[in-house]
Amino acid sequence: MLKLENICKTYHMKEKEVKVLDNLTYEFKENQVYCIIGKSGAGKTTLIEIMGLLLSFDAGNIIIGEKSVKDLSDNELADLRNKEIGFVFQSFYLNPLMKAYENVMLPMYLDKSLTKEARIKKSYELLELVGLRKRANHFPKELSGGEQQRVAISRSLANDPHIILADEPTGNLDPENTLKILDILKSLSKKGKCVIIVSHDEVVKKYADIVLRLENNSIEEVPE
Ligand SMILES: Nc1ncnc2c1ncn2[C@@H]1O[C@H](COP(=O)(O)OP(=O)(O)O)[C@@H](O)[C@H]1O
Ligand SMILES: [Mg+2]
Repeated sequence: MLKLENICKTYHMKEKEVKVLDNLTYEFKENQVYCIIGKSGAGKTTLIEIMGLLLSFDAGNIIIGEKSVKDLSDNELADLRNKEIGFVFQSFYLNPLMKAYENVMLPMYLDKSLTKEARIKKSYELLELVGLRKRANHFPKELSGGEQQRVAISRSLANDPHIILADEPTGNLDPENTLKILDILKSLSKKGKCVIIVSHDEVVKKYADIVLRLENNSIEEVPE
């Protein structure tokens, strides 16, 4: 589903270089929840941004589905990102001026084949999936943190991606809402998605099918 092949990444600063990833190779599969752990500064956010095609890498390649990322133009890259990858962030990043269903609809504008009615219907269905249909007309500030994150998950599914990337998705949530979010992410993996979560939360580790540790510029599976 998502294959990293010898990925290298170094940040070049004025005074020094920060090597973050060195020849990192790993294959993520569908129907699995992965949890990537690692110390602060280990490169977790860098890795997830590279996997999400938001950040360039220096060497190596990424294969998503059948597509080889290094051979794609910027437009093709953006297209692949929009179609195949859904993002969930620690701080939700909902548009405060839009109602929940409008936030969910936002990424659908890239799919010109859908009518406005079809987009609205789909966003209601995606909100239903996370138990928030009744909150569709609420603005983010009228929702709890856990509810906002569930809206963000709905939005990440707007274009039916195969891969969900989540950077500390439960970092701002209480234990009850954390479990709700993890249940939703787990159920998405059962429906065929590849769910990759960066987190240091012990609860997330328990939910994951596979735990990976990012250390010394590379990742390794952590035995159960
Ligand atoms: N844009 C950047 N420019 C330079 N250095 C960066 C940049 N982003 C991150 N770093 C450095 O790269 C390392 C990994 O950062 P990051 O991926 O954010 O780690 P984590 O998410 O595991 O805390 C850190 O040493 C950080 O300071
Ligand atoms: Mg980080």
